[in-house]
Amino acid sequence: MKNRIGLKVGRNDPCPCGSGLKYKKCCLGRERQPEQDLQSLYLRRYKIHLKTPREIEGIRKAGRLALHILDRVEQEIAPGMKTGDIDLLVHRLTLEGGATPAPLHYRGFPKSVCVSVNEVICHGIPGERILEEGDIVNVDVTPILDGFYADVSKTFFVGTPGPDALRIVSVARDCLREGISAVRPGNTVGDIGWAVQRCAEGQGCSVVREFVGHGVGCDFHEPPQVPHYGRKGEGIPLAPGMVFTIEPMINLGKRDLYILEDNWTAVTRDGSLSAQFEQTILVTEKGRESLTPYDL
Ligand code: MF3
Ligand code: CO
Ligand code: CO
Repeated sequence: MKNRIGLKVGRNDPCPCGSGLKYKKCCLGRERQPEQDLQSLYLRRYKIHLKTPREIEGIRKAGRLALHILDRVEQEIAPGMKTGDIDLLVHRLTLEGGATPAPLHYRGFPKSVCVSVNEVICHGIPGERILEEGDIVNVDVTPILDGFYADVSKTFFVGTPGPDALRIVSVARDCLREGISAVRPGNTVGDIGWAVQRCAEGQGCSVVREFVGHGVGCDFHEPPQVPHYGRKGEGIPLAPGMVFTIEPMINLGKRDLYILEDNWTAVTRDGSLSAQFEQTILVTEKGRESLTPYDL
């Protein structure tokens, strides 16, 4: 028998079913499969759906399409382009890939992709804004392919970046890399947040708190929430089969934000630059696998 973090359970250890009894007084000798137990435990205790191999393959396929879309967007990005042009491109490529764009009409969101420029932290609505030389722009895509969701974003430079743009994008990249490195069975959600926060604040930047990573795969936003700040060892233990995003939003100035009149666009209160990278991560027996992999 293995416990919820994949380690061997002794007869006198607490039972992995969460009963609080010793293993020998509880599930030892019962004929339930360990995998089945872990699935039921995470569902009952945390409302987390551990993905099956079939679901993981579906999310991986959606992830491949999402990365293809981001690559095509990157090729097109240039000064003079409207953010609405990115929406048209993402919409078309999503449909061509046999998928639908999850953002469109999600809780009233009016477009197929989030496009967040400079001081926009996230949830920017593509429209008439024109990209200018030196801007940074985050493009966040989530196709639904055969019912499976993959959520991924990158921040791109428009033309040649200035020093502030270079710095915030570099720190945001580092933060996602550090967050991903903290993913392994037995670590916790808090370990991820701690790693990201240390990386950002250690480089003099700040972490947005109002938006968090999230379970993903069979729905757009599933449990658990994955804050990009926190303490080591706190929160839910990571278990094989968990799929969630890590998507730190990092500000060059203070972490405070406000939401524009459109009820979506989140911007830095101090007007400083904000950057974000996001991937969809699977917890494996050995560690992790990105289902939307790109180099960081
Ligand atoms: N893709 C975003 C995320 O990373 C969610 C966007 S919700 C939308 O969770 F409605 F704005 F699209
Ligand atoms: Co996300
Ligand atoms: Co996203």
